[in-house]
Amino acid sequence: MAASKKSQLKPFVSREFYFGAPDSIPSVISAVSFDPECCSLDLFQQFDISIPDKVFEASAKRQSDYLAGRLAAKNAMSECLKCSASMITPGQVMTADSRVPVFPKGFVGSISHTGNVAIAAVTSCETIRSIGIDIEPLISEESYAVIKRQILTESEFSLLPHFPLTKNEALTMIFSAKESLYKLLYPIVKRFFDFSVAQVTTIENREGWSRFSIQLIDSLNPYFTQGDIFQGWYKKYQGSIVTLLTLTAD
Ligand SMILES: CC(C)(COP(=O)(O)OP(=O)(O)OC[C@H]1O[C@@H](n2cnc3c(N)ncnc32)[C@H](O)[C@@H]1OP(=O)(O)O)[C@@H](O)C(=O)NCCC(=O)NCCS
Repeated sequence: MAASKKSQLKPFVSREFYFGAPDSIPSVISAVSFDPECCSLDLFQQFDISIPDKVFEASAKRQSDYLAGRLAAKNAMSECLKCSASMITPGQVMTADSRVPVFPKGFVGSISHTGNVAIAAVTSCETIRSIGIDIEPLISEESYAVIKRQILTESEFSLLPHFPLTKNEALTMIFSAKESLYKLLYPIVKRFFDFSVAQVTTIENREGWSRFSIQLIDSLNPYFTQGDIFQGWYKKYQGSIVTLLTLTAD
């Protein structure tokens, strides 16, 4: 059994909570704080979350990330239904071979996890076609030099000092925005694309959710083409940055 049984006394989940969604975005953003040391396979059954073979065979860390992410998604689906008149039911979030989370019919969502926090953004609103969410711990000084070369375009390099964030915050935000964009578009374009395909062009800094924009530098398919701009949101949360992008159905 890969999952750690180190401490059955301490709970796996220490806190379940919701971030208010940005204005005008009809979605629920749910979060779960968890202790990976306290994960065990029994908890999947206890929380009524099915475990795919790949996760069953994976490391204890992967099992705890997966469980916390699915728990956040389950909470978000239940919360969505409280303000929905439709007859959809929560059900399991399955996993495609590509690792895309497959939400039950009637829901659209996205999942992200760090070592001890998992978040999910979910909607049952038919006007939203796709969601991308990401949570990223602040990139450290040591990692900064290495990561910036992998993540930033030339234009982002020159804009970095002008963004209204510290350089570590700005780099983390850009990294997270690109991962959210990937999660937003991969399920539609169904192809890998790397960090050079898009660049963050504006970042605001406000209380709560702030705005950013991210632009495609290359075309991904005939519908998502060079120059397309996506407006997103980000917020700082306990030493991490959360980014969110949504795509409307029109
Ligand atoms: C897929 C990827 C974005 C996941 O990010 P991560 O930092 O490893 O992990 P996170 O915790 O934030 O997200 C993991 C969750 O993303 C979701 N996910 C994984 N692959 C996905 C995909 N192709 N499309 C949508 N969602 C995906 C899953 O729900 C996964 O959690 P789960 O396996 O427990 O269900 C990342 O691993 C990756 O491959 N990045 C390279 C591509 C990229 O970012 N390009 C930048 C384009 S500008």
